[in-house]
Amino acid sequence: MAPPPLVDSHGRHLRDLRVSVTDRCNFRCVYCLPETEEAASFYRSRFRDLGRPSPPPGTPILREWKPRAELLSFEEIERVVRLFVRLGIRKIRLTGGEPLLRTDLPTLVQRLAMIPGIEDLAMTTNGFLFHRHARALREAGLQRVSFSLDSLDPANFRRMTGRDGCSEVLDAIRIARDLQFHPIKVNAVVIRGLNDHEIIDLADFARRENLSLRFIEFMPLDSGHTWLRDHVVPGHEILSRIRERFDIAPAAPADPAETARRWRFPDTPPESAAEIGIIAPVTEPFCGHCNRIRLTADGQVRTCLFSLIEHNLKGLLRSDTDDATLEDWIRSIVRGKEDRHHIGEPGFEQPERSMSCIGG
Ligand code: 5AD
Ligand code: SF4
Repeated sequence: MAPPPLVDSHGRHLRDLRVSVTDRCNFRCVYCLPETEEAASFYRSRFRDLGRPSPPPGTPILREWKPRAELLSFEEIERVVRLFVRLGIRKIRLTGGEPLLRTDLPTLVQRLAMIPGIEDLAMTTNGFLFHRHARALREAGLQRVSFSLDSLDPANFRRMTGRDGCSEVLDAIRIARDLQFHPIKVNAVVIRGLNDHEIIDLADFARRENLSLRFIEFMPLDSGHTWLRDHVVPGHEILSRIRERFDIAPAAPADPAETARRWRFPDTPPESAAEIGIIAPVTEPFCGHCNRIRLTADGQVRTCLFSLIEHNLKGLLRSDTDDATLEDWIRSIVRGKEDRHHIGEPGFEQPERSMSCIGG
């Protein structure tokens, strides 16, 4: 008999597990691992313009990655995913850092794809190494991919990500299409003064290339802890800028837990996958419908992106705990899931670890 579903104390039914497979990354995105001099200088100038004291010079430059032995093995990840799926999780998304830096990722995908009950097996990647592994991932059973692409201009792409990789990511999107990953989503984090002038170009790219392009508000999850409210371009502003140029019509939400408000282009054919999504966690939080939970690469469970505490599942996995005890433990952790985040409120505290460790 199926066990009762995973429900938190606010009545939210969890269905989506994000699994980070590594905390390493080959990019240095300004909103995540801002470790280039260019990123530091952007932040300094913004603080100066606002007449605020600059972020302390000691903000982390070149961080330490977790040693390999601290990461969950594929066997451990598979065991955890099986447990969660037994408890009603239906969507698994592999993330990082950059998941393609984890050796042999297709092997993990293959093991997960065989677990009965998973309805959706997806991955979020920066795309840079995708061409090397795309076919193996597809054959292993990966269904969907989301790419990060914040700029279509190679020089600005470098400013955003700290790396030259624009053409590689554009190629990756084409490869994903050829291999029939579907739908293909593209995430663009918008930062005022850095890539907000590209909103229209990115929207047009979605339209031309039949993609789902999601504009994401910048959240305080950067390793330098230099996020400012003024960097955020609110979702409604992104939308109104797009509407000035394109005729778009709202798409019906497919699922109440959907984070993006989606818009279609009525002038594209009905079978076109082209759409715009606006993800506005800062200005229009969707916590009330959140059905997600996260597992970090080093085996910590996080019940919210903004959790200040992590729950040490790895310790239990490595001390011969049986499945029934793990299940009870997971249920009790889930009951304590935060009701919402407190970004922008007095006393808001940014989690210590950046998105690259938490998993997007
Ligand atoms: N704010 C918003 N989105 C972020 N991402 C990473 N860091 C941030 C942030 N500070 C997104 C990237 C990536 C996904 C894993 O998370 O777009 O696609
Ligand atoms: Fe790497 Fe993703 Fe963070 Fe960019 S957002 S630095 S690609 S983990």
